Amino acid sequence: MANISILGLGAMGQALATRFLQREHRVTVWNRTPGKAASLIAQGARERNSAAEAIAASDVTVICVLDYGAAGSVIDAAASILSGRALVNLTNGTPAQARATAKRVAELGAEYLDGGIMATPPMIGGEHALILYSGSRATFDAHADSLEALGAANYLGADPGLASLHDLALLSGMYGVFAGFFHATALVDSEGIRSDSFLRLLGPWMAAMMGELPGYAQKIDSGRHGVNVVSNLGMQAASLENILTATREQGVATDLLEPMLELFRQRASAGFGHEDISGIFELMRRTRPGSRVPSGRAKPAGAP
Ligand SMILES: NC(=O)c1ccc[n+]([C@@H]2O[C@H](COP(=O)([O-])OP(=O)(O)OC[C@H]3O[C@@H](n4cnc5c(N)ncnc54)[C@H](OP(=O)(O)O)[C@@H]3O)[C@@H](O)[C@H]2O)c1
Repeated sequence: MANISILGLGAMGQALATRFLQREHRVTVWNRTPGKAASLIAQGARERNSAAEAIAASDVTVICVLDYGAAGSVIDAAASILSGRALVNLTNGTPAQARATAKRVAELGAEYLDGGIMATPPMIGGEHALILYSGSRATFDAHADSLEALGAANYLGADPGLASLHDLALLSGMYGVFAGFFHATALVDSEGIRSDSFLRLLGPWMAAMMGELPGYAQKIDSGRHGVNVVSNLGMQAASLENILTATREQGVATDLLEPMLELFRQRASAGFGHEDISGIFELMRRTRPGSRVPSGRAKPAGAP
């Protein structure tokens, strides 16, 4: 049994607190707006009137509020008692925000573990819940057993920005899938075809296309986009052109796919039409220090 405080009782904070209570931890809660703790108190939680009082009540405090602005104000309000404490911030934000918060918390003498929740509130504690962590290894090791109650706990490294980076990258993948779903569905919807019936075709197709990703990953890691090409970029640019033409003709918005076609065209114009579409990654990636290709845009695979 651990003493754990939860700051923030929105949908996610409630789920986290509930899960810790189910695992019979001693849970203390605080929320900016009073009156949100009733069901948690009924399950055995104790409520405190300020963030500082809640932090002082436990060995470790989990912060889960709207954003880093909110988390920062909670931390500032409790600054005077933070020395020697351990904070786990599961608020969604950017790597830069996580690093700045880690620095601020360290200046106040506390340990800081950042985290990203890859789950919705009903998923917390379930088999598909994943929580990413980075920052203080000591805090992770000391509280990993308790944190595992929320979902699989994956520690990514000492840089506090890593959890957020991976969190936002995973969400990017999710939104890419959703974007494909919305575009495809709008296209068939233009002829009155229902989304649920179309999904019977789209779902398996998208699942099959996921099988392409390991091959793309290999090409991205090696920078060799010209090997084992079965569906070259030039051909796929022509297909994507057809998709966007048809989309326009059907009176459907092209916004989600237009930027991808633009990257296909740029890469093809630079002479890479015979390579794989994974080559557009070279137009997107951050230029590495020391790279001789300033924009990363025109380097042929295998070129020095
Ligand atoms: N819900 C999800 O599906 C989900 C999934 C993964 C990650 N997350 C992340 O979890 C975090 C919380 O999400 P949620 O779903 O619990 O949101 P929510 O239901 O909208 O609750 C927001 C919480 O933030 C608090 N808050 C807002 N501004 C504040 C401030 N200035 N000072 C102190 N507290 C403040 C609110 O307090 P009041 O009650 O006083 O307004 C409330 O407790 C977010 O960063 C979100 O991105 C959520």
